[in-house]
Amino acid sequence: MRLLLLIPVLFLAACQADSPLRTDSFDPEIEALLASMTLEEKIGQMTQLNITTLVQDSILEDYGNVSHYVLDTSKLEQLLEAFHIGSFLNGRAVSPENWVYVTETIQSINQKFSDIPIIYGIDHVHGASYLKNGTIFPHNINIGCSFDTSLAFQAARTTAYETADLGHNWLFGPVLGLGKAKSWGRYYETYSEDPLVVSRMGVAAIRGIQDSTATSPYKTAACAKHYLGYSDPKSGWDRSPAEIPDQALREFFLPPFKAAIEAGVLTMMINSGEINGIPVHASYDLLTKMLREELGFEGFIVTDWLDIIALDEMHGVAENEKEATYQAIQAGIDMSMVPVTTNFCVYLKELVEEGRISESRIDESVRRILWVKKQIGLFEQVMPRKDRLDRINSPENIKLASQAAEESMVLIRNENQLLPLSGQRILLGGSTHDSKVSLCGGWTYRFAADGDHWFPEKMLTIRDAFEAVFTDPTSGESQVSILNENHLESQAAQADVIVIATGEDHAYAETQGTIDDLALDPAQTQLIQRCLATGKPVVLILTEGRPRLIPEVEQEVDAILFAGLPGVYGAEAIADIVSGKVNPSGKMAFSYPKRSGHIIAYNHKKAEYSSIRPVSEALQRYAIAPFGYGLSYSVFEYSDLKMDTLIREAGEKLEISVVVTNVSDRPGKEAVLWFVSDLVGSITRPVKELVHFEKQEIQAGASRTFRFELDPKRDLSFPDKDGKQLLEAGRFRLEVGNLHREFILEKSVGGQ
Ligand code: GLC
Repeated sequence: MRLLLLIPVLFLAACQADSPLRTDSFDPEIEALLASMTLEEKIGQMTQLNITTLVQDSILEDYGNVSHYVLDTSKLEQLLEAFHIGSFLNGRAVSPENWVYVTETIQSINQKFSDIPIIYGIDHVHGASYLKNGTIFPHNINIGCSFDTSLAFQAARTTAYETADLGHNWLFGPVLGLGKAKSWGRYYETYSEDPLVVSRMGVAAIRGIQDSTATSPYKTAACAKHYLGYSDPKSGWDRSPAEIPDQALREFFLPPFKAAIEAGVLTMMINSGEINGIPVHASYDLLTKMLREELGFEGFIVTDWLDIIALDEMHGVAENEKEATYQAIQAGIDMSMVPVTTNFCVYLKELVEEGRISESRIDESVRRILWVKKQIGLFEQVMPRKDRLDRINSPENIKLASQAAEESMVLIRNENQLLPLSGQRILLGGSTHDSKVSLCGGWTYRFAADGDHWFPEKMLTIRDAFEAVFTDPTSGESQVSILNENHLESQAAQADVIVIATGEDHAYAETQGTIDDLALDPAQTQLIQRCLATGKPVVLILTEGRPRLIPEVEQEVDAILFAGLPGVYGAEAIADIVSGKVNPSGKMAFSYPKRSGHIIAYNHKKAEYSSIRPVSEALQRYAIAPFGYGLSYSVFEYSDLKMDTLIREAGEKLEISVVVTNVSDRPGKEAVLWFVSDLVGSITRPVKELVHFEKQEIQAGASRTFRFELDPKRDLSFPDKDGKQLLEAGRFRLEVGNLHREFILEKSVGGQ
């Protein structure tokens, strides 16, 4: 095969592929390969099909219950011979051996027709989530609340570590959307409502995925998604229209993607939705002018599922699928996640043959795709291996997932230090107290598992964990009774404390998660109120993918633990926090709304609360737990805030320090969050913005100095609608803990 001649050359090039190469610079190996390819072969590289196009019909007929893949190799041969497909995607949790069979079969048959290996994309998005007995970490909604980027790194790195050998060389993560629409069915996939937290967690995850030391000799590509503005649908419904002004898009939604590009992310997946009337998949401004020309993204852009077809069928901006194909390619798409037909190949070929799309435009995309395949060493490491499967769910990996669960839950109420519990008789109930699926949510073993039977036998529910942890020290008898709603009052009389675990009791993903009311299930609210009526202390544990509203009870219960979706080891972590074995250290990475009629983020604008026409006192409190809030069993005091209060010019940095003392008798971890407020700005400024965060353990009675170097250009500037950075002289306020200080920037830079 003519391509065979190139392999030695490519092999050499692949060995040099460690240092990221600029794809807009000439790469002889890639150019030579490109020159040897037919138009059909090039278009094949731009085409990604779902695994369901390859499986035997018998599996397809009951795909919802697939637990083992058998490929129909005639289907595969036909697709590769006729369409030269360059990528496949997805699946469900099957055994590692089965995955090795799948990817080995695909790569082997592909070698009959091409020497360009297949890149296989998959949604292992919170651990090896599509792998039987893969280690499952908390979802991003939790990881963000840890305020510890090392957990984001470790979760991602462990995921790649467990799956790279299986031929999964492209992970569809991290999600870099801002957690804005609190009722959105994908809220739990976001790290935070704050752009800095999303940026830093996302960069850590990209580094974890693309960190080839863990997966050597394989490398894995990460995928920043979903570019751009997907997470703020106006109605809160998945893929419904977003209306985001250019200035806000640049100031709040773009930074995580910019950071991802600077961190070398190799691929980018696009938002299915529209922004201000333009579907992102058809937006030349966003996909080429902003992403390529302004931000210098070098990797390749993949559509989301079905999203070229959606330009016709959902958005109605194209007459038909062929026109949709034309629009998407002209906008800047490189690969189509079609995902179950080959129409894309047919239409794109026609568009080139008709002269509407140039072959040089096709070459641009194929060049990027080949470059990424080269960056991940795919030309030299094509085949999976199964001699290291003991990496999967190893004790070390479980320990990391457990630590992430422990450090990412937020104690948001603890009246009279009710928690930790010790020696009390516990009455345990609620919709999620005995459920595995409610600890993990969507994208776990299945797209949205419909029951606990998909979860590991050995996985504990909150009930299991409580019964193991809360036992009578002398008799060893369990101190936990399970609530029976028919006998609640009589049971409560025999208990010292009632623990209700509730939130969301089923898994959902994407549009399946669409709701029209963010309130907690009324039956659960009533149950909590019945418990309160007994007069016994009530502890509320919230396992949920988004902040379900509890205005009726949030100030009546004695303690609230936001557990989020803590993963397969979440129950043990919850029991260990409630029993005091673990000291909670999470803080809210999003504002937990109090009521449905006023859902805002912490970095809202001043005019949200008019100083001229103030709202009632009762409406001042928009969150039951504001961004940055979280209790510990330790007590931390902030003191000695040291900083200058005058910055003469933009180049000058401001060295700031604060002392945090653990005045309690128990060691604990504290995330120190640094905020800045720009008190006057030519574009209205957020009331405050996070500019830095750092989490450290502080021993009992000890103090620790935390330092932050404020860089005016980085921390005090903001973009205008065209992306011009404005740094305006004036008064600013720094806030850390309960301390704050005003300071002045003397000179402006940029702007008027
Ligand atoms: C889905 C999701 C995306 C996922 C992709 C492949 O529609 O939007 O996050 O990575 O398709 O499963």
